[in-house]
Amino acid sequence: MAVASAVRRPGRLPVPDGQAVGSKLVPNTSDATQDQPTGDPNYLVGLDLHGRRVVVVGGGSVAQRRLGLLIASGADVHVVSRAVTPAVEGMASSGQIAVTLREYADGDLDGAWYAIACTDEPETNAAVVAEATRRRIFCVRADTARLGTAVTPATARYDGLTLGVLASGQHRRSAAVRNALLEALQSGVVSDDSTPIAPGVALVGGGPGDPDLITVRGRRLLARADLVVADRLAPPELLAELGPEVEVVDAAKIPYGRAMAQEAINNALIEGAKAGKFVVRLKGGDPYVFGRGYEELEACVAAGVPVTVVPGVTSPISVPAAAGIPVTHRGVTHEFVVVSGHVAPDHPDSLVDWPALARLRGTLVLMMAVERIEQFATALLEGGRPAGTPATVIQEGTLRTQRVLRADLGTVAARVRAEGIRPPAIVVIGPTAGFSADAVVPHVDSAAG
Ligand SMILES: C[S@@+](CC[C@H](N)C(=O)[O-])C[C@H]1O[C@@H](n2cnc3c(N)ncnc32)[C@H](O)[C@@H]1O
Repeated sequence: MAVASAVRRPGRLPVPDGQAVGSKLVPNTSDATQDQPTGDPNYLVGLDLHGRRVVVVGGGSVAQRRLGLLIASGADVHVVSRAVTPAVEGMASSGQIAVTLREYADGDLDGAWYAIACTDEPETNAAVVAEATRRRIFCVRADTARLGTAVTPATARYDGLTLGVLASGQHRRSAAVRNALLEALQSGVVSDDSTPIAPGVALVGGGPGDPDLITVRGRRLLARADLVVADRLAPPELLAELGPEVEVVDAAKIPYGRAMAQEAINNALIEGAKAGKFVVRLKGGDPYVFGRGYEELEACVAAGVPVTVVPGVTSPISVPAAAGIPVTHRGVTHEFVVVSGHVAPDHPDSLVDWPALARLRGTLVLMMAVERIEQFATALLEGGRPAGTPATVIQEGTLRTQRVLRADLGTVAARVRAEGIRPPAIVVIGPTAGFSADAVVPHVDSAAG
């Protein structure tokens, strides 16, 4: 509990009212049972259910919620129920569980190591617990936990750890503490550095900018870094969370020309890892989407440095989404194409078939396109894409400073100049670019919002 109270942050996952997470237990009137003991009387244990028969009586949403973890633990799961949800049916048809569609009958627990009674009929649940007790099988009773012989903790799995929290039947409290602990681990507020991390490099996609949009794995590795080599578009708030002992190299400030700068970045990664450090190369979006990630991987591998790649939430999909624009929509677009605008259509280095792009009817997402937007719009118009095709430009998507410019292909270039749109920006062209964002509330629960 002391850990949980230490990791609470304002505005994040508050523990519900009346459930202070201090050393004192404050009963929650909504969930607490009468005669609340001052500590949870149950013995928390980890069961090895691998290959062992577990019988779940009931196939509704309560059962469905429990089945995922049972399957993940390798249990031999048998569901007995008159009816099951489509998801439970799917688990059965994919061979993850066995289902018997009928009423529960005494004897169904034969051979079971563990049982869960989760029908919506109290008398059936009571009968299951009674049979389990007779057979000395621990049994959870979902409708009235205290009438069973086992209770399910609020659990979470994180990087090889399993967390379990019991709170004397106060389910909201155990879930809140579990969530807070999980978030603390994910964000690095609580660090699990008992096992040293091997030297090497992790190429981590940091997402489009909102610090909440990095992956859980990316955040976990970042929290273990000795050295971080960060891109210009890597979410800056993530760097602010690093401890003072972590060395940060701002790759955007590495001098020399483009090629030399890349070589200097590669060297920083290799030298850091060879000096025994765990190096995180933190990039914007996904490391492999116009991010030169593969060049960095090749350089490290050639130098004998182990590399882990952590994919990221890439901007050509997530930035439009943050502005309420889906890159596909059923019956509207059957393709979306992501194009780099770092060279002009007529540049000898261009690998893009602009006339072919102009003939497409789906969604076109242009990256790094602000500087040459006039040339791209002209190429598409000349290739036959109608001038009235919706075109939306999103600058600094997912950040507090996000700007959205709605135009069409015929006017987008002039509007970009008139409105002073600057990189980083994404240009979305196609029918979905005209979808209204009114139905979407941006930045709900976002650190950047
Ligand atoms: C060198 S690319 C890197 C892309 C990155 N690897 C990814 O997966 O998103 C940089 C371009 O990504 C786009 N971009 C990245 N983050 C963005 C954001 N938050 N808002 C708008 N555009 C963004 C812009 O087109 C920018 O010029």
